[in-house]
Amino acid sequence: MLSLSSPKSSADLVKEYFHTQGLKTQDLPKYISFKDYFSVEINEQKYVVAVNNWKHKTVNLPSIESFYQFLSSQKGKEFAGGLFITHKGYSETVKFFLKANSDKEIVLGLLENKVTTQKKDEININWLYPLDYSIKKKDKPNNNSVQLGVFACKGGVGKTTIIAHLGLLLSELGYSVLLIDEDPERHLKRILDSFLKTSKSLNLKCINADELELEKKNYDFMLYDYPPSLSINSIYSVNNLHYCLVPINLSPLALGLEAEIIHKTFNYINQLNSSVKILALINNEIDSNHPTSKNLKQELKKALKPYPKAHLLPFSIRHSSHLYYWGKSNILNGVGRQSNAYQDFLALADYLIKLLNLEEN
Ligand SMILES: Nc1ncnc2c1ncn2[C@@H]1O[C@H](COP(=O)(O)OP(=O)(O)OP(=O)(O)O)[C@@H](O)[C@H]1O
Ligand SMILES: [Mg+2]
Repeated sequence: MLSLSSPKSSADLVKEYFHTQGLKTQDLPKYISFKDYFSVEINEQKYVVAVNNWKHKTVNLPSIESFYQFLSSQKGKEFAGGLFITHKGYSETVKFFLKANSDKEIVLGLLENKVTTQKKDEININWLYPLDYSIKKKDKPNNNSVQLGVFACKGGVGKTTIIAHLGLLLSELGYSVLLIDEDPERHLKRILDSFLKTSKSLNLKCINADELELEKKNYDFMLYDYPPSLSINSIYSVNNLHYCLVPINLSPLALGLEAEIIHKTFNYINQLNSSVKILALINNEIDSNHPTSKNLKQELKKALKPYPKAHLLPFSIRHSSHLYYWGKSNILNGVGRQSNAYQDFLALADYLIKLLNLEEN
C-alpha cells in the first residue's frame, strides 16, 4: 500500500526525477503515456508514473482505464501501483471508477506550473489523496435517492436502451442503482435479467414497478423506464422525479411531421410534475457531421424554445450496433468498451454527476 502520509515525499520524488533527467515542464512531450513510463520508488516499492500534459482538457475515464489495464498486465505487475499526473483535472467518473477498481492503487495528481523567471522551472504536484468519493445529491423528503425517469410519448425512441445502459454504467462507477420497470411489456427486465444473473458484483437491481413498495434499501439512483403511455401508478412516480430524460430521434419525420410529439411529451411531463428538470437527449444519431443532422439540431432547438425548463444535452447517443444487438455482451465487456456507445454513456453519466454536484453547491 502506498502511504502518502507525507504526500510531499512522492511529489518530491517525481520532482527529483524531472530534475535528474534535466526535464522542465515545457520540455514534456504532449502526452507521456504509460508506454513511455518512468517509475519512482516510494517506501521501497516501485510506482509507475504517467503524465498527461493536456493543459486545457480534463482527463476522462478511458485514459485512467488504460493505465489500470497496464497495471493489471504482466508488465505492469512489477509495480505496486501508479501515479497519474495532469494539469486541468479529472472527470467525475474517474474517481468512481477508481473506487470500484481499488485492487490497483492509482493516485491522481495535479501538476501546478509555477512559471518563474529563474532558469529552473518549479514543478509542484498537488496529490488528490485520499480521493473524496462522497456522493453529493439533493436532499429529498422521502429518501435520498436521485430519481430519474426516461419518458417520451412515442414508442421505440430508445427509452429502455438508455435507462438500461445508464444504470449499468452508474453502477460500474460505484453508485448503487435501482432500475424500476414501469412498462407492462417488461422490456427492461427482459434485456437485463440474464446479464444481471452473471454479474453479481454490480450494485444494480432491476424490479417491476409493483415491487417498489417492498424496497427498503436506499439507492443513490432510482431510474424509471416508462412506456409511451402512462398508467395511473406510473403517473404517481413521475410526480417524484427530479429529472426526466426525453430521448429524441433526429429524423426529418420526428421533427417535422411529428414535432407535436415533442410538445406533447414536454407538456405532459410538466403537467404531472412542474418541478422536474427535462433533459432532452438525441439518441441513435447516425452522423453528427451530416448537414441535415446539423439543420435538424437547429430545428430541435427552436422546437424546445417554448420550454425553458427543458435542456438539450450537449452530446448525443450515437447509433451503435452495441446498443442494437444487446444481450449478454454489452458496453462494459469485451469490445463494448471500445464502442462509441460506451463513450456516449460515459458522457451522460459524467454530465449527471456534475449536474448533481452543481445543484448541491
Ligand atoms: N443508439 C442506438 N443505436 C442503435 N440501436 C438503438 C439505439 N437506441 C435504441 N436502439 C434500438 O432501437 C430499438 C428500440 O429501442 P428501445 O426498446 O430502447 O426503445 P423504447 O423507447 O424503450 O421503445 P418502447 O416505446 O417500445 O418501450 C431497439 O432495438 C434498440 O436496440
Ligand atoms: Mg421501452
